[in-house]
Amino acid sequence: MFNSGRHFLQIPGPTNVPDQVLRALSKPTIDHRGPEFARLSMDVLDGCKRIFQTSGPVIIFPSSGTGAWEAALVNTLSTGDRVLMFETGHFATLWKNMAARLGLEVDFVPGDWRHGVDPGQVAEKLTADKGHAIKSVNVVHNETSTGVTSRIAEIRKAMDDAEHPAMLMVDTISSLASIDYRHEEWGVDVTVGCSQKGLMLPPGLGFNAVSEKAVAASKTARMPRSYWNWAGMFEANKRGFFPSTPATNLLYGLREAIGMLEAEGLARVFARHDRHAEATRRAVSAWGLEILCADPQEYSSSLTAVMMPEGLSADAFRQTVLKHFDMSLGNGLGKVSDKVFRIGHLGSFNDLMLAGTLAGVEMGLSLAGIPHSKGGVAAAMAYLQETMAAS
Ligand SMILES: Cc1ncc(COP(=O)(O)O)c(C=O)c1O
Repeated sequence: MFNSGRHFLQIPGPTNVPDQVLRALSKPTIDHRGPEFARLSMDVLDGCKRIFQTSGPVIIFPSSGTGAWEAALVNTLSTGDRVLMFETGHFATLWKNMAARLGLEVDFVPGDWRHGVDPGQVAEKLTADKGHAIKSVNVVHNETSTGVTSRIAEIRKAMDDAEHPAMLMVDTISSLASIDYRHEEWGVDVTVGCSQKGLMLPPGLGFNAVSEKAVAASKTARMPRSYWNWAGMFEANKRGFFPSTPATNLLYGLREAIGMLEAEGLARVFARHDRHAEATRRAVSAWGLEILCADPQEYSSSLTAVMMPEGLSADAFRQTVLKHFDMSLGNGLGKVSDKVFRIGHLGSFNDLMLAGTLAGVEMGLSLAGIPHSKGGVAAAMAYLQETMAAS
């Protein structure tokens, strides 16, 4: 079937790639060992530091986010090391599964998929670990499967208060360049990121922002590593090159995306995401539906996961929306499969895109026969208008 007009890609990543970035991606590929490439990579390696809010190095792999997860673990840890992880949702579970497969001893704190990491529990676990067997605390900043954002600064403080030397590793895959995140100020040792969400790029780049402590750990860690080895990257990056063929065109796109984020200003980017998230929550509340995130201080600004009324299929609803309005909404993953749908409101996005998205959801609720009240779009529009001047 032919669909006229633009597809609405409202999953929480990959996100809509803006035209400026698409144009940058379409430039001819150049010699990745020549001087023009070295200038490009110096620009993006530097620009990434500003996006991760760090003065330390950021490593860029041609990879998905999963690759960047693996790089974080294999560079800093040794087989048999203990790591502390938290079941905040599907992605935290996948990272835990990877750690276990790599031979790490994972202490996985169970969760209900409606809350983030409790800093009090971090303190408790670390205080009890008198022998400092735990080598790292690994947290997903924004759990994309649930729309819950953990409080990294408070987790850092809990670690400091416990005077525990474990490293802190944070997955910012769906928060980077969308929700305030400060690698250096928050004392994070490895920050994991990727290209296809707040950075407004297609999938294909994975990032590790690293602290001095993480670099020191990488010199003694004994986990086998080859492709993911930071050492080769540091060496080649000094001169603006990569140890193997980099994703040249994605790096053109990255340079453009960093420029756009900086033209808007990171603080305004974060405020825009906060505002769109609040407007979305007002729509959900007017529809009389429930948000999966149970604690308002952990509401995500990049996506909202909405619970389907008991006994109704979230996937059937999403199918209706796709069929009638050519809009993709995020599906429920893992334990909440078919029970929630997710509205992505991150990346290259504005008020009218949000209004269109919410209109598609509201009409879809009627067409799919989901009991709800009207007025969600109106509630969101009222909030957008009220806050227009401040934005
Ligand atoms: C929070 C989070 N971590 C990790 C991943 C895995 O990234 P990828 O699918 O790019 O490998 C995702 C993917 O959506 C994610 O949202």
